[in-house]
Amino acid sequence: MREALEKIKLAAQKELDVVSDAKALEEIRVKYLGKKGEVTAILKQMGKLSAEERPIIGQLANVVRADIEQAITDKVVAIKALENQKKLVEEAIDVTLPGKKKVIGKPHPLNKVLAEVEDVFLGMGFDIVEGPEVETDYYCFEALNMPKHHPARDTQDTFYINDNVVLRTQTSSVQIRTMEKTSPPIRIISPGRVYRSDAVDATHSPLFHQIEGLVIDKGVTMADLKGTLELLMKRLYGDKCKIRFRPHHFPYTEPSAEVDIMCFNCEGEGCPMCKQEGFIELLGSGMVHPKVLSDCGIDPEVYSGFAFGIGLERITMGRFNINDMRLLYENDVRFLEQF
Ligand code: DAH
Repeated sequence: MREALEKIKLAAQKELDVVSDAKALEEIRVKYLGKKGEVTAILKQMGKLSAEERPIIGQLANVVRADIEQAITDKVVAIKALENQKKLVEEAIDVTLPGKKKVIGKPHPLNKVLAEVEDVFLGMGFDIVEGPEVETDYYCFEALNMPKHHPARDTQDTFYINDNVVLRTQTSSVQIRTMEKTSPPIRIISPGRVYRSDAVDATHSPLFHQIEGLVIDKGVTMADLKGTLELLMKRLYGDKCKIRFRPHHFPYTEPSAEVDIMCFNCEGEGCPMCKQEGFIELLGSGMVHPKVLSDCGIDPEVYSGFAFGIGLERITMGRFNINDMRLLYENDVRFLEQF
């Protein structure tokens, strides 16, 4: 039995010398010290020994068991240290490597300016409403005092789906839809896409964006129109900006005016950017025509109102000094990330 114990000790030592992971180590513990382990088996046979031999072998067995236990404990510590070391090497971060820059998108300049405009009008108590881009001839032209064959339609020659359905050429259609549905007081803006059969160049595109505005209430005057637009422009372009109202004609407003802003580039002197005018045209506006009001069921004797239509591209180009409209649609990140 003494030899058996010596053998067991040697064998365990040999196995422990080469073991390198926790699972194998546990298997060794079970094999030698477990309930059915080899050392335990010897201890179970103690009864067969003589009275003299029993304490000697018993002691030896205990020493062997203690030695193996100690060796296993040492090994546990060693394996842990080794695993930690391995982890440290595997998870090491090379802080000298250049970092990966996250590319974060940002709003398109058109959306940025639209958000600014919406903010100004929401602050004045306006609602934001939307209308359909595929529109009937009635809302796009007819109800705006532009019957078939009216010459004002020529400048907006458009994409017809059929005789009665068009891609809207102006957001003014939303004025009519709003007046039909709601009764005064009305205060809305309506941003959206519009379409015209224009060839693409630095200042034209077959698809562009407008922001329509409409205010109807008792006692609304041209002064309200002027004050509202002046506030918008000052918020967009700074307190020093100057705007000018120029008489014009729109079939759905009377009187009508176009609104220009003093050229950012030459401050009114005249330069290539403003085509020597000193001012740049920004929008159309006017007092809503009495016939338009009454056709929508609003009594022009009681109510009056103003309307305007702003080209979003135009005010965006002015805001950021962009000289070619096409840049806004090309989705070139080198251009877009500047705003
Ligand atoms: N619809 C006009 C255009 O597309 C702009 C405009 C002018 C809108 C006068 C209006 C207005 O509401 O009153 O050029």
